[in-house]
Amino acid sequence: MSLSGDDQAVSTRNLTRKFGSFTAVDQVTMDIGRGEICGFLGPNGAGKTTTIRMLCGILAPTSGSGSVLGYDIFRESEQIKKHLGYMSQKFSLYEDLSVRENLDFYSALYEIPGRDRSGRIAEMVAMAGLAGRERELVANLSGGWKQRLALGCAIVARPSIIFLDEPTSGVSPTSRRHFFNIIQGLANQGITVIVATHFMDEAERCGKIAFISNGRLLALDSPDRLKATALDGWLVELEVAGGVNRIGDIEALPYVRECSLHGPLLHVLLESESRMASLEGFIGVAPRPITPSLEDVFIALAKRSRVAAGTDGV
Ligand SMILES: Nc1ncnc2c1ncn2[C@@H]1O[C@H](COP(=O)(O)OP(=O)(O)OP(=O)(O)O)[C@@H](O)[C@H]1O
Ligand SMILES: [Mg+2]
Repeated sequence: MSLSGDDQAVSTRNLTRKFGSFTAVDQVTMDIGRGEICGFLGPNGAGKTTTIRMLCGILAPTSGSGSVLGYDIFRESEQIKKHLGYMSQKFSLYEDLSVRENLDFYSALYEIPGRDRSGRIAEMVAMAGLAGRERELVANLSGGWKQRLALGCAIVARPSIIFLDEPTSGVSPTSRRHFFNIIQGLANQGITVIVATHFMDEAERCGKIAFISNGRLLALDSPDRLKATALDGWLVELEVAGGVNRIGDIEALPYVRECSLHGPLLHVLLESESRMASLEGFIGVAPRPITPSLEDVFIALAKRSRVAAGTDGV
């Protein structure tokens, strides 16, 4: 029995995965506590899914080390699989089976003892808000319901940790919020949740965020701490007509770290507060200081990593 007493649900050191000569996950070192919700955020191709697959014991790492729930990801992946729930990016429900039949199928797959099955299934049906619709064919459910049912299938065996890979892409904002409420309820019960997402509003609701770009972990911290510490400079917004056409000019200024478009506004990261007057002189509009959003943090971190990798502007 190697389930250690430490309180880390996930712990990795220099975890790396190569595909041929391409490094998809590059020396990722992270600790995620039990009962935490950790969001994996990063551009397409950043390495989120590859990291999740290694942590789930589905994909062998090339090098480095890691444990999930105290089990070694190299040697004890079978133990890990017994304690986790996984909802993949293309989650698999059987469209031509009913709600109940899908849950039956996953209960059998996870080898839930027969005497416990109907109770567990009823719990999942209630969690997904599908009571009374057990006989409906999955094909007839809308996206949000399918996602909640897929979550139910993933956690019917009461895992200690769940990995959700972009579980809410393609559903309405209301369904996404509802789904996240369920996730938060699970975390409140002590279940660790790792969730890859592209949505900043979901990231805001995570206790911790892992920013991943080009296979590297750029930051791992709470949303508030990231906003307070991750930006190196003074952030302002500008209301400029035709702002999108001015980004290049503004970024070329020596005291500007970066400039990006946010709806109709430009966000400009200055090297310091004292540069506000210079920027106003250049653009002819008064800049307004703003508190960074997670998106600002993300843009700044991603840019820093491109500069470090020598690929900025490519
Ligand atoms: N089996 C594989 N063989 C070769 N390359 C792979 C394989 N799996 C993933 N990759 C590559 O590794 C990189 C990381 O992919 P990954 O799917 O982990 O990214 P991601 O962050 O999950 O992206 P997305 O947000 O689009 O889901 C990509 O460049 C991808 O093409
Ligand atoms: Mg992915």
